[in-house]
Amino acid sequence: MAEVVIVGSADEAGELGAELVQRLVAARPDAVLGLATGSTPLPLWQALIRRRLDLSRVRGFALDEYIGLPTGHPESYRAVIAREVVEPLGLTPELVRVPGDDGGPLELAGAAYERAIAEAGGVDLQVLGIGRTGHIGFNEPGSSLASTTRVKTLTEQTRVDNARFFPSLDEVPRHCLTQGLGTILRARHLLLFAFGEAKASAIAGAVEGPVTASLPGSAIQLHPLVTVIVDEAAASQL
Ligand code: GLP
Repeated sequence: MAEVVIVGSADEAGELGAELVQRLVAARPDAVLGLATGSTPLPLWQALIRRRLDLSRVRGFALDEYIGLPTGHPESYRAVIAREVVEPLGLTPELVRVPGDDGGPLELAGAAYERAIAEAGGVDLQVLGIGRTGHIGFNEPGSSLASTTRVKTLTEQTRVDNARFFPSLDEVPRHCLTQGLGTILRARHLLLFAFGEAKASAIAGAVEGPVTASLPGSAIQLHPLVTVIVDEAAASQL
């Protein structure tokens, strides 16, 4: 059963999340963080920046990455994580991985990423946002609840939602590598944030709906330790 915390603002959510990260890193300076991209985790990163923690030994694994963007593209999740997380929070770049970053063949990238996570001892705290389709990572509706890191096709809805980061919809990639729902469920603690009315239906489905591949976020109900931090608008259909 997820613990749902309804807060007054995204900033407050960021502070609560930062508290969890701070406690984890105090106990384990080389903790393994699961990193999400998108707009949702930004208040968490901002709150962590304000706390000026020493995160230099923290290891990180991004949830997902686009396929097909040129190396160094500013909207590749590798670049986004570097710009929004690694640099401002003082993580060590070599300790942060993104799916497919080993440069090997795409068909082996998923298994290689799973191995890397396992070798790190697994993810301690997985930060998650949720898409309007109910996706977590890029596990779109229909993703197996047991799935591992693999290539996926993005839905049109997700491409449209993410087009705001690109000059045009046409430039939004069509494929990605994403940790699977099974991968995410192996993290020891899930920390899901959602803000705004547009996420209300996905949050209601994820927290209270049936556990179903049609709403991948509902997989969180299979996990024993989940913290969901939402604002009033995202909680409005609970
Ligand atoms: C993106 C990412 C997800 C993210 C979700 C929500 O496409 N792949 O990891 O959680 O969709 O994005 P946002 O936080 O910008 O609403």
